[in-house]
Parts: sequence; C-alpha cells; structure tokens
Amino acid sequence: MSQAIPISAMAAGVKPSATLAAAAKARALKAEGIHVYDFSVGEPDFPTPEHIQQAAIAAMKAGHTHYTAANGLLELRQAVARWYQRYHGLRYGPDQVLISNGAKHSIHNVLAATVGPGDEVLIPSPYWVSYSDLVEMTGAKYVLLETSWHRGFKITPAQLQAAITPRTRLLMLNSPCNPTGMVYSRGELEALADVVVRTGITVMSDEIYEHLVYGGVRTTCFVTLRPELVEQTITVSGVSKSYAMTGWRIGWALGPMHVIKAMGNIQSQETSSPCSISQYAALAALEGDQECVEAMRQEFEARRDLVCERLTRMPGIQLQPPDGAFYAFFRVADHFGRTFGGRLVTDSVTFCQAALEAAHVNLVPGAFFGAEGFARLSFAASRAELTAGLDALERWLRS
Ligand SMILES: Cc1ncc(COP(=O)(O)O)c(C=O)c1O
Repeated sequence: MSQAIPISAMAAGVKPSATLAAAAKARALKAEGIHVYDFSVGEPDFPTPEHIQQAAIAAMKAGHTHYTAANGLLELRQAVARWYQRYHGLRYGPDQVLISNGAKHSIHNVLAATVGPGDEVLIPSPYWVSYSDLVEMTGAKYVLLETSWHRGFKITPAQLQAAITPRTRLLMLNSPCNPTGMVYSRGELEALADVVVRTGITVMSDEIYEHLVYGGVRTTCFVTLRPELVEQTITVSGVSKSYAMTGWRIGWALGPMHVIKAMGNIQSQETSSPCSISQYAALAALEGDQECVEAMRQEFEARRDLVCERLTRMPGIQLQPPDGAFYAFFRVADHFGRTFGGRLVTDSVTFCQAALEAAHVNLVPGAFFGAEGFARLSFAASRAELTAGLDALERWLRS
C-alpha cells in the first residue's frame, strides 16, 4: 500500500509567504473577470530600465550564459564594493561581498551561517513577514521587540538592551521598514549602535529600501556608525526595489570575510551562482546612470502624497505618512465590530477580506506583520489605479 511521503519537521513549520498568498486570492477574483485594485504586492510596477535590459541581452549574445563563480561575478562584487565606497565611504574588498538570488536569499544565507538551535534572534515588530520564518528554518528562536504606533514603530536602546540574553546572537534591522515605512534617524541608529557594540551581538541590516525615501528624509547605512560595527554587521541589499528588478533575483550581502565565506559555502551547495544574465544586468544597474532611480523615487513620492492625503480623510483610518519604502501602514481598528455587507469585521484579516470582497481593494492585514489593528497598502501602482482604488475603499468605508 502506498504511503504519503513524510514531511520534515523543518518544512512542516514553514508557512507560505503571507503577502504572496494575499495576491493569490486577488488572482482568483481577477480570473472571474472582476477588476481588483491590487495594493498587496511589494514590487515596483515600472519596467526595468531600458539600459539594464539591453545589458542583459548583450550578456546573452556575448555568451555569458554559463555558471559564474558561486559567490557571484568578480566584476559585480567589485561594483557592489565600489558602490558602498562611493555612497558610504566603506572599504570592502570583493571577498567581503556575496551575490545571491535576491536579498531574501541573502538574508537566509546570513541566518544559516550565523545562528542555529538554542540561539535567539531579535526582530523589531512590525516586521517583514519572511523574517520570522527564515529564522525558524535555522532552528533558532525569534524574539519580537514590540513597537508602538505612537512612537513611530521604533525600538529604543533601553528596549534592545533589555531584550538581550546570553542566547542572543543577532538583531534584524530594517530601515526604511517594510511594512511601516519607518526610517530611523541617524541619532536613533547611533543609540542602537552603542548597545550593539557594548553587547557584541551581530546585526543583519536590511537596507533594500535605502533609496526610496521621501520628504527630504535621509537614510543611514548602519555599519558606518561605529568602527567596531564592521566586525559585527552584515549589510543586505539588492536591485529589486530601487531598479524595478524584482524578477531578476539579485541581492547581496557585505560583511566580515569569514562570515561571507561561510555564507558562500552554503550558497555553493544550495544554488551555485545566481543567474549569470541577471548578474550582468545588475552590473549595468550599479555602474550606469542613476537617474532612473531618482525618477522612480519621485513618482513614488507623488503617490505617497496622494495616498496619505486620501487615507487621512477616510472615516476610522489613522495614518502616519511613511518616510520610506512604498507602503502606507494605517490603523483600521476603529472599524472592528462593524458589519459590512453581512460580514462582521473583527480584526485586520477580516477587515482586509471584507475590503477585497466588497470594494475589490486588496490590502495586507497588519496581523501578517505582527501588528493587529493595521493594514498595509502598497503604492507601487499607478496614480490612476490608486485614485480609483481609494475611491472604492472610501465608498465602502462610508457605506
Ligand atoms: C524588507 C525586505 N527585505 C528584503 C526583501 C527581498 O527582496 P528581494 O529578495 O526581491 O531582493 C524584501 C522584499 O519584499 C523586503 O521587503
């Protein structure tokens, strides 16, 4: 008699990506011919800039269609190192850079190389959905550092210090933050850096939204703040968000050589090199004209202003305008206990289900990011689409 193949304990504990699951629900409605205002997905709607596409085509034609070094093309690792020198004054050699299949893969590699069973990893909450699952896959335990809306979703140095135990190995920082759009000021990060230096913990600083900031806000590259941090920090970023290159799957990590080497060993067994063609495209992105990044940032800023202006006028919605990334994270808890079209809204999940069913607006529940009472709207959609979707949302909320 045939028997179902048993699933490992590790695999059984992994949940599918919650944001991708929300997109699947919207797809089902679309398949019925319904227009869905899909504000759930975290990827720029712009095409990848033309000169980057052309570089990929040229790479193919030049025969760069084979394996590269497992840790990534030397030219690309050098370009990443140059980029951090140019923008942040950092001096990394190419052996301190690992190119991976997207920043998500870089984060997996960081965790796989630095933590395991018995270790604790600190995650400020709200947090990007994948962080907790990626930690659990290593056998380590994640510990959430709760933040409040009133304090701008920021952890404090005292809170960080109090959370550190002898088992603490790593802190996962993300500024600008998905889902809140929060950006730590330099002073706030310096205060956190002092705790990190004093306690000797490792930091994974996810700076993938570094270029997407608004209203004159500036980001800070965490590792630059104290000389000691060079030995304690792994910086993660990639081309997905700034260059509209989510599908190309190129991310990177910079850090101490022995950690980058350990991460590279894991990657060489799991995936070998990232896609050769995508690596040449990423090289063109980093080395080419950066005007495309600024043009997309400006468009995101206009959309942010539009979305914030509309949301703050809606009944029962409270919002602090995001300083970075491309998400509005707003409080919807005042609607809990209401019935919309026969559906009782009791939490962020039922709120978002009702918004999708009644207004055809697809949002992501705050609960998925560890923040009940909130919803996330991605403004990586055209202004016309955002306006029409916000009209539908407002009509529904006033119904
Ligand atoms: C905070 C954060 N980090 C990392 C990533 C991963 O990006 P990618 O794997 O496309 O490079 C994302 C994508 O949504 C993100 O929001």
